[in-house]
Amino acid sequence: MPDVTVTRRLRFNAAHRVHNPALSDAENTALFGKCNHPNWHGHNYVLEVSVTGPIDPVSGYVVDLGRVRDVVEREVIDQVDHRNLNLDVPFLAGANPTSENIVVAMWGVIAPAIAPARLSRLRLWETENNYVEYDGR
Ligand code: NI
Repeated sequence: MPDVTVTRRLRFNAAHRVHNPALSDAENTALFGKCNHPNWHGHNYVLEVSVTGPIDPVSGYVVDLGRVRDVVEREVIDQVDHRNLNLDVPFLAGANPTSENIVVAMWGVIAPAIAPARLSRLRLWETENNYVEYDGR
């Protein structure tokens, strides 16, 4: 059976501040610019969740994308949507919420929750022009 990758797109809106407390205020401003604004700013995030595997001979599917949606909504989207990523999200506690750090933290939540389906890639869009990808390595 060939391996096929299927992807579900989900959306959430959240606030954050990109900030490294180990650096001075001036260093944070120089490094992060307006993303370091102390009173937060928001993004309309898009998360793409990909699962890879063989096609089930009975269903013709790799995975039920409705189940993927339900699991990701429950485990991740409900935790981050309309929240402050610096303050409100247990799986991001202590993290500097760059897209890179967010996507790795989300992997740690989603991969076990959708098993035995195999999570193969997360793509997180912070803006229409910028996305990060993670494949678990
Ligand atoms: Ni930002």
